[in-house]
Amino acid sequence: MLNDRMRATLRQMPKAELHIHIEGSLEPELIFDLAQRNGVTLAYSSVEALRQAYAFTDLQSFLDIYYAGASVLLKEQDFYDMTAAYLARAAADQVRHAEIFFDPQTHTARGVPFDTVINGIWRACQDSPVSASLIMCFLRHLSEEEAIATLEEALPHRDKFIGVGLDSSERGHPPEKFARVYERCRQLGLHLVAHAGEEGPPAYIETALDLLNVERIDHGVRCLEDPELTRRLARERIALTVCPLSNVKLRVFGDMGQHNLLQLLEHGLVATVNSDDPAYFGGYINANFEAVFDALPLTQAHAQQLARNSFAAAFLDPEARRRHLDEVDAYFAALA
Ligand code: HPA
Ligand code: ZN
Repeated sequence: MLNDRMRATLRQMPKAELHIHIEGSLEPELIFDLAQRNGVTLAYSSVEALRQAYAFTDLQSFLDIYYAGASVLLKEQDFYDMTAAYLARAAADQVRHAEIFFDPQTHTARGVPFDTVINGIWRACQDSPVSASLIMCFLRHLSEEEAIATLEEALPHRDKFIGVGLDSSERGHPPEKFARVYERCRQLGLHLVAHAGEEGPPAYIETALDLLNVERIDHGVRCLEDPELTRRLARERIALTVCPLSNVKLRVFGDMGQHNLLQLLEHGLVATVNSDDPAYFGGYINANFEAVFDALPLTQAHAQQLARNSFAAAFLDPEARRRHLDEVDAYFAALA
């Protein structure tokens, strides 16, 4: 059970968010505002009716609604407004640094220019007091050729994003499908991450590491099914960006009491807590911390470890990382 003191500790502690899909931060109210602004007709009659549809049974049932929600994004200002709203929420949750995923193919497939997407998101990041970097995701249900074409379109904006990721439907779309485009990205000096081991098997975590050369695994919670892989992740300090509310909503775990975050930490893994798609899964990063600390016997020492892990796993320069870690340690020292 989460007492008031621990709740306040979690809310106030400095943290980084490393797994947030910006399109997943689009709240129903903003979806309706943008639909009206852009003259887009939605299949839902009201904000409440849309929220009612957020009853997911698995990853695909979520993705269908998530892509429908993103259909209201047409103009650069729409991408700006969505990103600014997320960063304001993140700042309120004491997020000092965010590494934000965006899905250009969700928009370019609808005829929205790549430049419109990245310029809107990037400008909102520039205008925020929160340090924010962008990670461009390839949709894994599409082909590698389409990912390569997207990378080509992105290259004129190389200075606006720090890395690439892989998201969308995991089952049947193993990491190795994208080995060539990841090799190209590696040569370009981009950071590499991929979703793996959310719904897909532990073998996908292994191929993401061995064939894509990723530096972090997004989700990765199914690693515990493979003890050898678990030991490797700990030994190589490969961070996992865990998203507790997402995992329960998409039925990776039956309820929060069954979540394996504590076990991941006890295996010495660099686990972090993140929101994934906060508008769809019931809350932003602090809601994720509160839900998982409420359900599991996690302590203040775990909170400090998770805050430290978030900065240890971030793509920050050594000096910024040290400054953030010092802030975490000073925060917890003052609580003692
Ligand atoms: N998994 C895969 N693709 C996604 C997710 C996720 O949790 N969120 C947004 N796209
Ligand atoms: Zn995700």
